Amino acid sequence: MAHRIGIIGGDGIGPEVVAEARKVIDAAGVAYEAVPFDLGGARYLRDGVVLRDEDVEAIRGLDAVLLGAVGTPDVPPGVIERGLLLRLRFDLDLYVNQRPFTAGPSALNDGVDMIVIRENTEGTYAGEGGFLRKGTPHEVATQGSVNTRMGVERVVRHAFDLARGRERRHLTLVHKTNVLTFAGDLWERTFAAVAAEYPDVATAYHHVDAACIYFVQDPGRYDVLVTDNLFGDILTDLGGAVSGGIGRAASGNLNPARTGPSLFEPVHGSAPDIAGTATADPRAAVLSAVMMLDFLGEATAADRIRAALAATDAVVGSTPAVGDAIAAAL
Ligand code: IPM
Ligand code: MN
Repeated sequence: MAHRIGIIGGDGIGPEVVAEARKVIDAAGVAYEAVPFDLGGARYLRDGVVLRDEDVEAIRGLDAVLLGAVGTPDVPPGVIERGLLLRLRFDLDLYVNQRPFTAGPSALNDGVDMIVIRENTEGTYAGEGGFLRKGTPHEVATQGSVNTRMGVERVVRHAFDLARGRERRHLTLVHKTNVLTFAGDLWERTFAAVAAEYPDVATAYHHVDAACIYFVQDPGRYDVLVTDNLFGDILTDLGGAVSGGIGRAASGNLNPARTGPSLFEPVHGSAPDIAGTATADPRAAVLSAVMMLDFLGEATAADRIRAALAATDAVVGSTPAVGDAIAAAL
């Protein structure tokens, strides 16, 4: 049966890069039913809809979702991010955010070949906090970080499973245990407990600030990394920058338990400043689609597209021209 794939082009360059990803999937001969959703900042500005319960339920019944980017500058911060993107991550329990990085032609450091596993449903993103006496000289704002044993353990376990299947079998925990002594302690103890079940995987621990140095100066020391939601957000923009541009950074928001669809999206945002100029690199979207095909069991098509991406790695051109080149290489 053909896969049923939700398509959320979104805002800005989102629809432009998703069109190229679909062009490439089509060229690879993958049969799927596209189920489009008109969602994002533009939709919100038009009729006030961010994401309805019925949209979530419709998406829940799909096999996967391919998302371009959402967000427009004229919508207040958080409305689309929390109401659409984070809501999908939370409601669909997409607890793993998997972000691979390999050195591209203009990488700052040739040694990059790593996968960051970012916890995707907890931490500061859980939204714990609030205001007291808002707008007065005595106002207080708190922003908590939620870390559960279950939530940490399942993402750490996913990272160990992934590391076990790779050649180097190496996993680094990234946190800030010297300052975040409660959350960091939970992460460290959980990591150690799970590590005991994976004696074949070598482990390391780095503070997140030190990891920033190594990302730039010596990324070759990393194979798989696992970290919390916010550290993972920041580190993966850096990962994109050092590996040759955020326009090549792909991600999968995964529900490894497969109780529902997983969602695949480029790490980059809607880039309103270049929207409509056809200058966005569609590779991050294409590679996100490759991750989706892998997850759907379409290994042959995924491998073929990966080879086409490698063969066209140096191609420079407009958004559709790069998509055409990848499709032609298939
Ligand atoms: C990302 C993005 C999102 C995040 C934003 C848009 C909420 O930056 O996917 O990395 O912070 O997770
Ligand atoms: Mn981000």
